[in-house]
Amino acid sequence: MTSMKFPTNFLWGAASAAYQIEGAWNEDGKGESIWDRFSHTPDHISDKTTGDVACDHYHRYPEDIAIMRKIGLKAYRFSVAWSRIQPTGRGPVNLPGLDYYDRLTDALLAANIEPFITLHHWDYPQALFDQGGWVNRDNLAYFADYSAIIVKRLGDRIRRWTTFNEPGVIAWNGYANAEHAPGERDEKKARQVIHNLMVAHGLAVQAIRGVDPGLEVGIVLSEWGADPASDDPADIAAANRFWNITETAFLHPLFTGHYHPEMIEAAGADLPEIKSGDMALISQKLDFVGINSYSRHVISATKGRLEKIPGSEYTEMGWEVCAPAFRRMLVKINRDYHLPPIYITENGSAFVDVVTPDGKIHDERRLDYLRQHFLQIRLAMQDGVDIRGYFVWSLTDNFEWAHGFTKRFGLVRVDYDTQQRTIKDSGEWYSSVIATNSVEE
Ligand code: FCB
Repeated sequence: MTSMKFPTNFLWGAASAAYQIEGAWNEDGKGESIWDRFSHTPDHISDKTTGDVACDHYHRYPEDIAIMRKIGLKAYRFSVAWSRIQPTGRGPVNLPGLDYYDRLTDALLAANIEPFITLHHWDYPQALFDQGGWVNRDNLAYFADYSAIIVKRLGDRIRRWTTFNEPGVIAWNGYANAEHAPGERDEKKARQVIHNLMVAHGLAVQAIRGVDPGLEVGIVLSEWGADPASDDPADIAAANRFWNITETAFLHPLFTGHYHPEMIEAAGADLPEIKSGDMALISQKLDFVGINSYSRHVISATKGRLEKIPGSEYTEMGWEVCAPAFRRMLVKINRDYHLPPIYITENGSAFVDVVTPDGKIHDERRLDYLRQHFLQIRLAMQDGVDIRGYFVWSLTDNFEWAHGFTKRFGLVRVDYDTQQRTIKDSGEWYSSVIATNSVEE
């Protein structure tokens, strides 16, 4: 058996997000977030659960860091709950909230694990939403203020900073299709949110660099490749168009300074209001870009986006497993844009896990998913894509947004009745990948 070696400094990590793991939803002065409100409202979460306790990571982070250490992680990507820091999203700092992330950071560093921080992973302060949320341009500067507060406290120990996680999901799932908090259904508003998030990102980049110009700043985007259903030129054209009007929504403004012309055309009368100076603010140089990718879109000229590809494997999310598409997408974005170094900030899979009588979780399918994707990343690097690190989604099973606890993505199983953690086979295997810095073909 041969193996593919990764570069010595490749940053192997795992990722999480505050609302999905922390719990302690109203402790130590934390304010309400839109996800608290959304999950507390009946019928929003498929299994009628909430993130009130989740993995109780807020109290159990030392145990979780010990697990990270056991796996051998070099980095850990986590997000900050804005309403722990500023309960209403603006104004005075709630010190116990800031102290918590300070302790977490120090504990990670003591374990020799690099903290890789996301400033906003969807849990927006409810009080700011009540004042118009991301639609209201007056609110955008609060994100920059909040970012500066955290950088001032943690910037001496954390080197890499990301502003938003998947702004497209904030806009579409939160403001257009109501699948996520805050549960709005208004496509025009969603398009304004896309633009406003970009402006808020630009303001935050300035604020972070204003505190410390030496820090590395980036953003995390969701990018799924768009493959044509066949070699038919009509399918190829349809796939290209799909890519241009969906997957370029952020790449294009961030890395060219304007929106893709096909996206503008598709927006029609719903085009957002763009103020003079916005595009320069949005397209400030970044130090890295984070890419989250789980699957691909398959597009037919006549049928649109295909739900099921015969012969393909699907995860519990209904997402097709297609690792070669991951490489194709990476090669494409690298060719189409002048990108800074890339970190794969999320990739992983949800499958039904079974605890066998020996107490173990033999999650071969998750392990195989990861193995296939690691190999495709290595191939993309050989194709010239500058990928510096990779974060499995997720370290532990957790609260999967509107799916509640029904989808398990973790390298580590969480028994939600006892909060017991068990490293799955995929986690043991990942440990050997990190230790040898190579993946068997
Ligand atoms: C991504 C999210 C992450 C998790 C995975 C499965 O879109 O960033 O929080 O829900 O999907």
